[in-house]
Amino acid sequence: MLSDRKMYSILNRHQKKSGFKLLPVVIIGNGPSGICLSYLLSGYTPYFKRESLHPHPILQKKLEEAPDVSILDQDLEYLSEGLEGRSHSPVSLLFDTLLRPDTDFGGTAESVLTWWHETDRAIPHLVLGRNPPGGAWHSIEGSMVTLSRGEWMGLPDLQFKDWLRQKKRGLRNNRATAEDIAQYYQHYVMKKGLQKNFRCGTVVTSVRKVSAEGISNHMQEDLQKSDSLWNFTEEGMEVFQVDGFVKTVQGDKEPFSIYAENVVLATGTYDSPTWLGVKGENLSYVHHQLSALEEAVKNNSIGITSDPVLIVGAGLTAADAILFAHHCNIPVIHVFRRRVSDPGLIFNQLPKMMYPEYHKVHQMMKEQSAACAGPYECYISLPEHRVLSFGKDKKCIFQDKNGYQKAYKISMALVLTGSNPNLSFLPNNGIYLAMDSDQPVNPKRNPIDVDPFTYECTQEKGLYALGPLAGDNFVRFVQGGALAAASSLLKKANKNPP
Ligand SMILES: Cc1cc2nc3c(=O)[nH]c(=O)nc-3n(C[C@H](O)[C@H](O)[C@H](O)COP(=O)(O)OP(=O)(O)OC[C@H]3O[C@@H](n4cnc5c(N)ncnc54)[C@H](O)[C@@H]3O)c2cc1C
Ligand SMILES: *[C@@H]1O[C@H](CO)[C@@H](O)[C@H](O)[C@H]1NC(C)=O
Ligand SMILES: *[C@@H]1O[C@H](CO)[C@@H](O)[C@H](O)[C@H]1NC(C)=O
Ligand SMILES: *[C@@H]1O[C@H](CO)[C@@H](O)[C@H](O)[C@H]1NC(C)=O
Ligand SMILES: *[C@@H]1O[C@H](CO)[C@@H](O)[C@H](O)[C@H]1NC(C)=O
Repeated sequence: MLSDRKMYSILNRHQKKSGFKLLPVVIIGNGPSGICLSYLLSGYTPYFKRESLHPHPILQKKLEEAPDVSILDQDLEYLSEGLEGRSHSPVSLLFDTLLRPDTDFGGTAESVLTWWHETDRAIPHLVLGRNPPGGAWHSIEGSMVTLSRGEWMGLPDLQFKDWLRQKKRGLRNNRATAEDIAQYYQHYVMKKGLQKNFRCGTVVTSVRKVSAEGISNHMQEDLQKSDSLWNFTEEGMEVFQVDGFVKTVQGDKEPFSIYAENVVLATGTYDSPTWLGVKGENLSYVHHQLSALEEAVKNNSIGITSDPVLIVGAGLTAADAILFAHHCNIPVIHVFRRRVSDPGLIFNQLPKMMYPEYHKVHQMMKEQSAACAGPYECYISLPEHRVLSFGKDKKCIFQDKNGYQKAYKISMALVLTGSNPNLSFLPNNGIYLAMDSDQPVNPKRNPIDVDPFTYECTQEKGLYALGPLAGDNFVRFVQGGALAAASSLLKKANKNPP
């Protein structure tokens, strides 16, 4: 990877040399969604591999109809019609089944796609991201094992298992560690030669639509020189102004401003942990990230003899925290709102065989309520409880479903109840883009409203949304959104040649 300084100087040079360059596409977020889209916009073009046989006979027939036409140029609605699977998005199902034809039946059939690098089809773009390429996978605890099978974490035309083998590493129970995945994504960007489009250590703080006329005076000079500019002297045309800053090695923030015809939101949903909204939650012993527990163990501020650690929440991150504390023999009080048998609880949805450690946590949650002393030392489960307040003296107060209150003295608290997207760089936090435009964007309940075959926002032309923001919650399925967006952006570029 390029050093921060080098990244910074590239961005800066780009800005200085070209002043107010108008880019066809700016992607915000460099996780799997952003990487996959950058790959497709760099001229990598998928075709149906002639000799291959897809297990879905109707899809096979459709694929045979136009083997010389890239999938990107075909009618995605037609190709994806009738496909079924574990995603609500037809294009996600399509791309997934083209890449991993029989994976849901436990098969390992090869992809039916062949990739050609057609550089003349490339669309100039930038990928801006806070972390190194890989997005959320750099924030997830490195030793965490994925929920998905390892091969479902792979991106097009570079199998995850081949990379692992090359690294002489293996899968555990068919699953990979977050650290391996983060490294694989970085490797992918290098291997496919995408790094020149990536600007890491970059934070976007504002995206606004502005009139092209207002800025075109500045751009006149550039217009004549540049090869990648599109004709934007059209009357009334609007472009996006993307502002933000780059973190320099010295720790300074250098502001930047770029203009783009299209902006792709691929910022994921893991940047702002959810708060309970109770008194004392801002006290220094209350944390909202799993990493705080690891740090506290490392710096010896908690240990076997400490007061218990409070863990709030019943999702997988909370489970990871419990497993970690258990492993270090640290006492835990576990508070969560649902019943242990609630079908909405993730543990009631996971197959036991594949996820033995989560099954164990679920077992603890069931058997170890405060009333009875069960087989697991140092762990107390408080289902159907909520936190009322955190006190300055590290005493916190809970309330059960009958309204009874209890107080416990703890050493630290971890509130791990999920996270929300942070779209503060959009007007009104991007609320106007959501399905229900009165409520905040939420990946599960209220994603951004996009056209299912282009992933362009219904409420804002030229703005696209990918990944969890658009309701696609697994790496396996975020790639279809990238395919749809790339297909749409290529169509625009052909209509609007440089
Ligand atoms: C604990 C955990 C476990 C998971 N396990 C699995 C699993 O087993 N299988 C699976 O398929 N999925 C899993 N996921 C979900 C998976 O992480 C997401 O589906 C995937 O990472 C989404 O990719 P993305 O590129 O859309 O967004 P992300 O990977 O979230 O990347 C977005 C990036 O954009 C950056 N960003 C945000 N705002 C800005 C800004 N203003 N300026 C610059 N950069 C910005 C963010 O910092 C982030 O790095 C898990 C998630 C978590 C949190
Ligand atoms: C740019 O667009 C304007 C207005 O639509 C048109 O008159 C002009 O011919 C176009 N120029 C080029 C180089 O395409
Ligand atoms: C959202 O991001 C902005 C800019 O990075 C930051 O200032 C703000 O604190 C974040 N909001 C939340 C709720 O995390
Ligand atoms: C926490 O928030 C309360 C009220 O919102 C405020 O009065 C208090 O100063 C804050 N404490 C800390 C440590 O920030
Ligand atoms: C140890 O780590 C915890 C969690 O990040 C932090 O709150 C605490 O201040 C640290 N203690 C010391 C002594 O560094």
